[in-house]
Amino acid sequence: MGIESVLSEHRTFHPDQSFVSRANVSGMVAYEKLCTAANKNYEEFWANLARELIVWKKPFTKTLNDSNAPFYKWFEDGELNVSYNCLDKHLSSQPNKIAIIFEADNGDINNVTYKELYEKVCQFANGLKTFNLNLGDRVVIYLPMGIEAVVAMLACARIGLTHSVVFGGFSAKSIQERIKDAQAKLVITADVQFRGGKILPLKAAVDEAFILGGCESVVGNVVLKKSNDAIELKNKEVWWHELIKNQSKDCDPIYVNAEHPLFLLYTSGSTGTPKGVQHSSAGYLLHAMNTMRWTFDIKGDDIYWCTADVGWITGHTYVAYGPLAMGATQLIYEGIPTFPHGGRFWQMIEKHHVSIFYTAPTAIRSLIKASESNKESNPDTYDLSSLRLLGSVGEPINPEAWMWYYEKIGHHQCPIVDTFWQTETGGHVITPLPGATPLVPGSCTLPFPGIDAAIVDEAGHEVPWGTGGLLVIKKPWPSMIRTIWGDPERYKKSYYPEELGGKVYLAGDGAIRDKTTGYFTIMGRIDDVLSVSGHRLGTMEIESSLVSNPLVAEAAVVGKPHEIKGESIVAYVVLKGKRPEGDEAKAIVNQLRDWVGKEIGPIAKPEDIRFGDNLPKTRSGKIMRRLLRSLAKGEEITSDISTLDNPSILEQLKKTIQ
Ligand code: WT7
Repeated sequence: MGIESVLSEHRTFHPDQSFVSRANVSGMVAYEKLCTAANKNYEEFWANLARELIVWKKPFTKTLNDSNAPFYKWFEDGELNVSYNCLDKHLSSQPNKIAIIFEADNGDINNVTYKELYEKVCQFANGLKTFNLNLGDRVVIYLPMGIEAVVAMLACARIGLTHSVVFGGFSAKSIQERIKDAQAKLVITADVQFRGGKILPLKAAVDEAFILGGCESVVGNVVLKKSNDAIELKNKEVWWHELIKNQSKDCDPIYVNAEHPLFLLYTSGSTGTPKGVQHSSAGYLLHAMNTMRWTFDIKGDDIYWCTADVGWITGHTYVAYGPLAMGATQLIYEGIPTFPHGGRFWQMIEKHHVSIFYTAPTAIRSLIKASESNKESNPDTYDLSSLRLLGSVGEPINPEAWMWYYEKIGHHQCPIVDTFWQTETGGHVITPLPGATPLVPGSCTLPFPGIDAAIVDEAGHEVPWGTGGLLVIKKPWPSMIRTIWGDPERYKKSYYPEELGGKVYLAGDGAIRDKTTGYFTIMGRIDDVLSVSGHRLGTMEIESSLVSNPLVAEAAVVGKPHEIKGESIVAYVVLKGKRPEGDEAKAIVNQLRDWVGKEIGPIAKPEDIRFGDNLPKTRSGKIMRRLLRSLAKGEEITSDISTLDNPSILEQLKKTIQ
């Protein structure tokens, strides 16, 4: 997205009076009142919310402990169980309300009520107990999108195990790295997954992860049977359906401390291997619930659909925990947006009367493209009148896609909440509240009440509105990351860098505030993190993977703007042998793409690989990534390249290998 187009964007969309009058936060005055309350007495603001929204086993007496900053603790002497808050709490008031409507890849539908979900979770939790794990032991979950994925997560929460979900698109090597780093005791997987009409192996990747080694911590592997093909399980492996046989449908929740790690979720940073972002129980749950209430305006009769996979933070907060803790009915979909046609999402909205819909700009852009190809893919073919609110997440949404979403899907009736947040923030941090905030396409607008967001320069000083800088959050908030698993130093360095004074949370994004409205616009990552189809990938990870190929001597990876994916991956590679040309070059390109696909996952495959005898470096040997980015975009290099050691190399790297 061109930042210029966003900055010159002046269209403003006000919520309808009918929406405002029923909204959970009704009007800007109500929004400002919440912000003022938070400003006035910050701790009390959060404490009141925590008392209102969470069912505590033991109430907390202390709100924030900042004595060991930036390792903040919230509600630290309180005790709760997160699965109790998602399930048991609803059993007396709405046992027969549908919690999850599941639609499979092939269109089969399966509903579960709150009572049924409670029973499934209890039964599975009782099954998990047979492994004799200890409180806080880590469990890797590698499952397809579906009811069982949610059951597995909640069952862990029920008995105080810390889950670490690995996205089903990640490779054996990624699973192995995560198992090893987390020292996981248990793995929960499925034989296969169904996506886009295809059957893809899942357990095979786990088997391969074990062969790679370093997984000695694992004492068991639970396997969900999805296909009819007979496979034999080995030692330590047990079928999900065998594990729950004869298990009681009740299981007393294990109450844990507010700070007990509910989960780890690995995400990419600018350097090193993916980091295990550690989240708390109470603070996390609180923000999941409160953002459901204020950002998504959730009501008892809503049919809510967040299309994210539970392998990502969005699927944690806005599929597994938020909607259930709020007692909502939600739709969960197994497949992909474009199967069997590009109208699948719109058809499902019509079929299930979805009222709140939350998806990623990359999906919207690909569906805009598909909508022109046939009638089935055209949203006009479907009755979308059940919708009242739309959401966007994961990357900047360009104004063109925003307008299409607003007109074609929302029919000018639905506010769009462009929610900015991160794996580390646990939930929304900058977002419109739909019954309050006037919307400007391409801007995530204003901070969520209680989030003290600001923009600073490289020295940590706040910059005036209208000037770009680094996005920071000045005060700790309950759902924030607690640490990086096993690496507290890296947590401090990454998020509370000394350069900025060590007291503010550094998001890692550049941002600018509108001169008059103060609205935030996100300008993209300031580090070497890419967003490809909304998936976060570190350039370093892809470089390390390329360099681990026996043919490769050196590699540099950059992102380039992509019409649908947001960004695509371009890799510059120096081989150990001669620089290849013609068919040989093509063959090696394919080989390297497959290699990265196997090492990290298909989402990390470079779209464009170019070969050089060397990479453009300064005389001190630093790779000039800025030049590589320009080359990737096909820009003429006009800047001064006199500091370059080997300017002639640029010519070689200009061309894509077709
Ligand atoms: C990065 C975080 C938040 C859940 C999904 C991604 C980018 C996220 C927006 C938005 C512009 C956005 C940022 C952020 N991002 N939402 N609404 N507008 N950019 O979580 O994988 O941790 O990635 O996604 O660059 O830092 P994640």
